[in-house]
Amino acid sequence: GRVAVLMGGTSSEREVSLDSGRNVLEALRARGIDAHPVDGIPALVAALAEKRFDRVFNILHGGDGENGVVQGLLQALGVPYTGPGVLGSALTMDKIRTKLLWIAAGLPTARFVRIPPGGDLAAAVRELGLPVFVKPSCEGSSVGVFPIRGEADLAPALEFAAGYGGELLAEQMLTGGEYTVGILGEVALPSIRIIPASGWYDYHAKYIAEDTRYLCPGLEGAEEEEIRALALAGFQAAGCSGWGRVDVMRHADGRFMLMEVNTAPGMTSHSLVPKAAAQLGVGFEELCWRILEQTLE
Ligand code: DAL
Ligand code: MG
Repeated sequence: GRVAVLMGGTSSEREVSLDSGRNVLEALRARGIDAHPVDGIPALVAALAEKRFDRVFNILHGGDGENGVVQGLLQALGVPYTGPGVLGSALTMDKIRTKLLWIAAGLPTARFVRIPPGGDLAAAVRELGLPVFVKPSCEGSSVGVFPIRGEADLAPALEFAAGYGGELLAEQMLTGGEYTVGILGEVALPSIRIIPASGWYDYHAKYIAEDTRYLCPGLEGAEEEEIRALALAGFQAAGCSGWGRVDVMRHADGRFMLMEVNTAPGMTSHSLVPKAAAQLGVGFEELCWRILEQTLE
């Protein structure tokens, strides 16, 4: 059958998605799969109306690609797609509600304060105590994330918030290290420790800088087991299956804290799930095939 590689779209992560999409397309074609690029949901709807595709490899980052909207559309049409379903996608696009669920499930996550649209950002930051991150509840790739280490850092966050209009959260900044764990099916891949050359793992460090260091596996022995088990538990508790990536940070006291789930994680040359899969000897083509294979059953 024919496979639509859904990419691009209109979210703030459009460029990242086009990069991921091109890589996936090339890998699937190298495997002899009849795969075609589709840019955004309106183009997908038109193509599906003409019955041009049997299944969808969804690599549309952010917005309607990751928040349950396109998953619902495909579900209703009976078209198989990669990644988590409606519930897991919709929930994990919302960092605040994902954290509430983890707390209810007894899973560790960094302390936070919700800032409603127009809410008092400075008060939320003070309530939590510095240092904190202020970020939108529903964005990806570190878009709109502000590290606040002192009062002077509040100004740019306040300016962003004034023009944003959505919910934000202030979240305790953890200093014990940043990790991420890819999930493939029921398996947590080796963890990756992320060491940005300067500051923190922002958009630049993610996609542009060549000096971000990655260690994989990020931990050893019992700690590596622990982080993988935590990531898989966080993923599944949030209603997710298929594949994805769970970001974890470490508290200065050594405890691991769940940060967020990505349900259509990056597949760029800088991205992390491919690095973790490679550690297990699963190359990029094979990884794309295994993700697509989940739609075949
Ligand atoms: N949101 C980006 C694409 C990621 O998590 O990799
Ligand atoms: Mg994300």
